[in-house]
Amino acid sequence: MIRKIVCRCEDIDEEEIIKAIEEGYTDFEELRKILRIGMGPCQGRTCIPLVLKILAKKTGKKVEDLNKPSFRPPVIPITLGSLSGEDE
Ligand code: FES
Repeated sequence: MIRKIVCRCEDIDEEEIIKAIEEGYTDFEELRKILRIGMGPCQGRTCIPLVLKILAKKTGKKVEDLNKPSFRPPVIPITLGSLSGEDE
């Protein structure tokens, strides 16, 4: 069976997400907390849209109607050295 990886940073596949939704975790923040989705180095840039699509499909809601994660600066991954100004 082919494993469909959704969150590469945290090694979470589609089956794990669907299982969690079926167990009652139907809010994105709940999924994030139990599976660590979006907490990897990319901060969810690739996996969050995919997770929202899966969540919408499984709950029968529109992606637009789901609670979406809020992003805080920096919105792109940067090194701590860059943040502190040491990399300049
Ligand atoms: S792919 Fe999910 S946090 Fe990076």
